[in-house]
Amino acid sequence: MKRIAPSILSADLARLADEVQEVVEAGADWIHVDVMDGHFVPNITIGPVVVKALKKVVSIPLDVHLMIENADFYLDAFVEAGADILTVQPEACTHLHRTVTAIKDKGIKAGVALNPATPLNSLDYVLPDLDVVMIMTVNPGFGGQEFIPTMLPKIEQLKKIITERKLTVEIEVDGGIKVENIGEVARRGGDIFVAGSGIFGTPDRTETIKKMRKEIGT
Ligand code: DX5
Ligand code: ZN
Repeated sequence: MKRIAPSILSADLARLADEVQEVVEAGADWIHVDVMDGHFVPNITIGPVVVKALKKVVSIPLDVHLMIENADFYLDAFVEAGADILTVQPEACTHLHRTVTAIKDKGIKAGVALNPATPLNSLDYVLPDLDVVMIMTVNPGFGGQEFIPTMLPKIEQLKKIITERKLTVEIEVDGGIKVENIGEVARRGGDIFVAGSGIFGTPDRTETIKKMRKEIGT
């Protein structure tokens, strides 16, 4: 199933409830929440309190992307706040298998997000434990960056590995997704598409989501 996950990083945060409501009504599948700590990435965003506030107004799953160091310390807080999917960055997790297991033990979906320079084979031994692999198509830290086209073969390769190993893990793609490239990303194997500026930065978000759906054939 193909899914669209608008990233609130590019929403008007002073009107967050309304912004989220608009994309939910337009047919968004998940709401993507970018958590940045100013250490792993050069930006600081939001934490569990905002996830908790969102949970009160959003009925669709909250897809929480942790771009933070020491993720293990914060898993409980995000689960209690209402995260439905927790995705961590392996570059910031010394004991990735332990972190993934801890997320799964909490009864929610576990994801791992790979920076552009991180190879797929770093996941060889955890792939069967994952619900989602997120391919970063920008270097994480900011919304509104350019999609890195050399990530297309990486998506394709991951799709091949998942099919060959008969796994059910889904491929999420995050960074620089727009109406213009979402179709190509879907053809290469993407299942879940995160878009921040590509949705919230457009004048008619409903129309944008409709066009994206058409491109990915859902
Ligand atoms: C990048 C974040 C992304 C970001 C995407 O560090 O992980 O989720 O919000 O924003 P766009 O779609 O504008 O590239
Ligand atoms: Zn993200």
